[in-house]
Amino acid sequence: MKKLVKNNVHWVGKVDWELRKFHGDEYSTHNGSTYNSYLIQEEKNVLIDTVWMPFAKQFVDNLAGEIELDKIDYIVANHGEVDHSGALPELMKHIPDTPIYCTANAVKSLKGQYHQDWNFRVVKTGDKLDIGNGKELIFVEMPLLHWPDSMATYMTNDNILFSNDAFGQHYATESIFNDLVDQDDLMKESMKYYANILNPFNQILRKKLEEVISLGLTIDIIATSHGVVWRDNPMQIVEKYSKWANNYQENQITVIYDTMWNGTRRLAERIAEGIGLADPDVVVKVFNIAKSDENDVITEVFKSKTAVLGSPTINNSILHSMAGFVHLMKELKFKNKKAASFGCYGWSGESTKVLNGLLQDAGFELIDEGFKNLWNADKEQQLKAIEYGKKIAMA
Ligand code: FEO
Repeated sequence: MKKLVKNNVHWVGKVDWELRKFHGDEYSTHNGSTYNSYLIQEEKNVLIDTVWMPFAKQFVDNLAGEIELDKIDYIVANHGEVDHSGALPELMKHIPDTPIYCTANAVKSLKGQYHQDWNFRVVKTGDKLDIGNGKELIFVEMPLLHWPDSMATYMTNDNILFSNDAFGQHYATESIFNDLVDQDDLMKESMKYYANILNPFNQILRKKLEEVISLGLTIDIIATSHGVVWRDNPMQIVEKYSKWANNYQENQITVIYDTMWNGTRRLAERIAEGIGLADPDVVVKVFNIAKSDENDVITEVFKSKTAVLGSPTINNSILHSMAGFVHLMKELKFKNKKAASFGCYGWSGESTKVLNGLLQDAGFELIDEGFKNLWNADKEQQLKAIEYGKKIAMA
């Protein structure tokens, strides 16, 4: 069923309550997601984006219930990724000549994925499309937010910014508007989405936000491609993005470890204790990465000023759970954060050295060479681990 966004603009997307992993298995979606598509019915009828491929048939059937498909004058493909373009092949079977407005890079991605020579109309920032009734669509390229092909589309008069992935969340909801959902869930999912998807593009995002703000467009609604439509104070999420894009951190230190026989776990607990003793105001969180959701822990790293990573030594190196997690930290290009390492060993003891190399490579500033412990920590060593936690808190 379509849902009213404003005047002649309706949401015609798909709510995916069941989704638990996105981007293959790379991103956990505890609250599902939505694939938002919008139908504008002015003198011209325009479809903005579609939905993920498994829902293509259902999407096109529903759409045909709302409008005769051959009455769609234009399609706007803000982004070629399959969660938004996946229903195009099914839709274009019905209306093969309908023009698709998108960036030059989107033509590459759409052709590369679907091998179809559709009627592409390449647009650049500032290009306009008259849709009648005194309204226009204005296109704004958003390269690398988060793909080279991404763009946003602004609808004049109704003042709606169709922002695609930007400002979205993986959050299934029947009430499409931001003021009608659980606010804590909404902000948590918005931050998780930013930390896990957009953080590598901070610098580009800062410039793009300045550019969009300098255009002086009135924005009454931000209609994203995932999660809610921001109609209540839509600039609140733009303001959040401005903060998050500036090497965001809170007064938090996060201890992340994996362990074989609980030795490194005990160190993690003692280090966390020391941090708390030295600075009662700092938020301390501890995660066993092998038992935790990596994307949630990434969000905690995003909020942290310091990440403390621990692994025992195994085969002259570290546990693979930790190696995979540090790789993810590197991909997300965190800046302006400190780090420290720790771990137990029985024989050769390379884990802290390996962790230090990986953390430096991931862009973290090391506090020192780390805290190593031979076999299990006795009372004296546990006290030293507490002292090490204090040192981290004071760093
Ligand atoms: Fe929601 Fe980049 O696709």
